[in-house]
Amino acid sequence: MYIKSIIKKDITHALNKIIDIQHYDPLVKLSKKLEYGHYQINNLIKLSKILKITPFQISKKIISNINNKKMYEKITFSEPGFINLFLNLSWLSEQLNKMLKSIRLGVPYDINKQNIVIDYSSPNIAKEMHVGHLRSTIIGDVIARILSFLGHNVIRANHIGDWGTQFGMLIAYLKNKKLIEKLNNNNISLFQLDKYYSKAKKKYDEDQLFAEKSRKYVVKLQNKDPIYYSIWKKIVFITMTHNNEIYKKLNVTLNETHIMGESLYNDMLPNIIQDLKSKKIAIEKNGAIIVFLKEFKNRLGESMGVIIQKKDKGFLYSTIDIACLKYRYEIFNAHRIIYYTDSRQHQHLIQVWTIAKKANYIPNSIILEHHMFGMMLNKDKKPFKTRDGNTIKLNELLDESIERANKIINEKKFKSSKKKRIQLARIIGISAIKYADLSKNRNTDYIFNWDKMLSFEGNTAPYIQYAYTRIMSIFKKSHISISKIKNNILLIEECEINLALLLLEFEEIIYLVAKKGTPHILCEYLYKVSTNFSNFYENCSILFPKKIKICKSRLKLSFLTAKIIKKGLNMLGIKTVEKM
Ligand code: ARG
Repeated sequence: MYIKSIIKKDITHALNKIIDIQHYDPLVKLSKKLEYGHYQINNLIKLSKILKITPFQISKKIISNINNKKMYEKITFSEPGFINLFLNLSWLSEQLNKMLKSIRLGVPYDINKQNIVIDYSSPNIAKEMHVGHLRSTIIGDVIARILSFLGHNVIRANHIGDWGTQFGMLIAYLKNKKLIEKLNNNNISLFQLDKYYSKAKKKYDEDQLFAEKSRKYVVKLQNKDPIYYSIWKKIVFITMTHNNEIYKKLNVTLNETHIMGESLYNDMLPNIIQDLKSKKIAIEKNGAIIVFLKEFKNRLGESMGVIIQKKDKGFLYSTIDIACLKYRYEIFNAHRIIYYTDSRQHQHLIQVWTIAKKANYIPNSIILEHHMFGMMLNKDKKPFKTRDGNTIKLNELLDESIERANKIINEKKFKSSKKKRIQLARIIGISAIKYADLSKNRNTDYIFNWDKMLSFEGNTAPYIQYAYTRIMSIFKKSHISISKIKNNILLIEECEINLALLLLEFEEIIYLVAKKGTPHILCEYLYKVSTNFSNFYENCSILFPKKIKICKSRLKLSFLTAKIIKKGLNMLGIKTVEKM
């Protein structure tokens, strides 16, 4: 139910009967106080300036021309320029019923079904995932979940960094240290690989002979020499087996079937270079192949050059992303592609999009979006690092959160078995980290704060999860089977009406998040639902009102609240528990 959009349609329709006005947005808002109606229209003054009649006269015209009589109880005007819309309460109750009956909670499928590629997580091979991968992984996953829910064909693309000269070094190092057999027997962990990788890099810079060998191996790898190819595959396998464990721990939907790494586009690259040269988009300069883009100027005001092939014939990150765009359009017929990487990659993406369009690899109509995000900072507003200045490994961060949740749970003395408490700590720990991140506007940096995210108060996962268990315990105490309640929801008290209006906004919120890729809007909404419920719970007796019919109605409203919290959290990749 998207009440605002119905109101907007009704108002525009009424207005169009009196004047020919286009692109007028009546700015429909939920009223702050019920005495001003359930909804309000706030910008009559602007309209009155255009039409040169008073807001009151406009309101009179609008009111007399609204024909959706069933939905509105009354419509009034208040100074200086507001229209107050009072909805019919039994109509509202009917809408709540519809929501309750639907497994989709009344949210319709998007009529404009699209193929949407979501490029997220995308860690690099032979390295452990670090805190920097958290945001891409979890924000991307929320949007993938929501767009699938809306009926789109979502293609999750984990663009792992699995190709390039670094694999030559790593193979040379493993061979040098006679570690290949160990690798083949799966006896090397990602932790060790990560260490070897750093050592290999160092040796590459210091030891010419080693560097030469590494380069030789890269060529062998590029030619798919079976021995080198299989070593490389093993390295990818070890890394991704470890990463898939993290995905499971994080409750994100990525798995091995979503891996579409840089290597996938390798065979396309020589043709891309040829093609861009023949289309005169790329030129040779000092042995390298470069695309000059007029639309971007460097500091000297010259066209910006994007190198797509180095002097040594090696390809670059950009070359791969150009091929990748072509692939996503040709193979998946993508209508929309969304990238989740931090803001530092913005220019890179804009450049490759421009080149792919110039070369006609993708049509102009394709929607390309970079949903960038800021960094996680420590209390001193510096990039979040370990004490000795290293990047924090994601897995260690998650384990610490579970450990901290465990401590809090033990302090709270929940009445559950030890096994249940361990499960709960896992859920609370992971949810807290995820929610703390998802609830911040992704465009900004944020300060990582353990105490805040694990608190049972405020806009946190534990608070909402706890609110959910509270509703569950009410049902238990009621001894009434909710699904058998036949009565409609009665909207009498102010806090009931407020809660109902909020629940009916669910569809609007989901569509908004799907459009903008902003999970924090859903977080804010769920937090508001939880605090509104708590207000309702404190002001309206659910289990012992004067009449049983009211008790049943309130149980039903609580049931819908619980369903929305559960579904909303599920979209955020956050689990609910029935009891704490
Ligand atoms: N692997 C890259 C990194 O760790 C992110 C890849 C993002 N996706 C893309 N198509 N470029 O920075």
